[in-house]
Amino acid sequence: MASYLMNLCSRNISTSASILKNIPNDVKGTSSNAWISRQLNDPYVKWAKMKNYRARSAFKLLEIDDKHRILKPGQTVIECGAAPGAWTQVCVERINSDGRDANKATGRILALDINYFEPVVGAEVFSFMDLMRQDTHEKIKKLLNNDKVHVVLSDMAPSIAGIRSLDNEVSRQLFYAAFNLSVATLRAGGTLVIKLLGEGGRKFEDDLFEYFYTVKHVKPPSSRKESPEIYYLARKFKGLKNVAKKDEKNEIS
Ligand SMILES: C[S@@+](CC[C@H](N)C(=O)[O-])C[C@H]1O[C@@H](n2cnc3c(N)ncnc32)[C@H](O)[C@@H]1O
Repeated sequence: MASYLMNLCSRNISTSASILKNIPNDVKGTSSNAWISRQLNDPYVKWAKMKNYRARSAFKLLEIDDKHRILKPGQTVIECGAAPGAWTQVCVERINSDGRDANKATGRILALDINYFEPVVGAEVFSFMDLMRQDTHEKIKKLLNNDKVHVVLSDMAPSIAGIRSLDNEVSRQLFYAAFNLSVATLRAGGTLVIKLLGEGGRKFEDDLFEYFYTVKHVKPPSSRKESPEIYYLARKFKGLKNVAKKDEKNEIS
């Protein structure tokens, strides 16, 4: 990974014009100057442009996946909070959902966001789907047609209001929306990668441990140090039957 990033870096491609076009709506006033200057000096932004990824966030998933080997050809993946589609692009490559490699199994990805985003070849893209709504969960289950998935990814984040307690609370709600979807759709042994803004804490981990055999924090190198985001990597989904059995035991003892 490091060597191909160095390779990309050595090519001289100007990205500033497109950076200026893409200032997020929640970055305003003087903070937009800081945002522009950070974007211009950020090598990941340049590498994303060179690799035709829609956002630098692609590298977070690439780094997590390179280290933890989550995505494999032939898998079915649900991705929550997918706009503008950089993680979706990475998933398509790694699960071969565009069938590009005829020698490997072809995967499937359902990628959704509350906002509009452009289609990604090889992905089923759903704009204007709010994961906080129960009918969204029902729609996804219907699309799966009783199939269970290998991986659920959530990079969902709220529009930042700037009030820390409020932002953390919305992030907490998004976390549980994606967590609940994972419990309803993952096959036993499946994996959840889920973002949380804020401090995290025992409660989140304990809740994940109820349903997964292993849970750890991951902070990929491309996640900015000053960013309050952390990712939980929860693996080996116990399967609803096993959780139910454990609960039965708890009731008896
Ligand atoms: C950090 S961005 C995701 C970036 C994406 N992983 C990528 O690489 O292109 C977070 C996304 O979460 C989405 N989001 C926030 N609340 C949501 C909700 N209730 N339902 C679905 N998506 C939501 C936002 O619209 C935003 O696009």
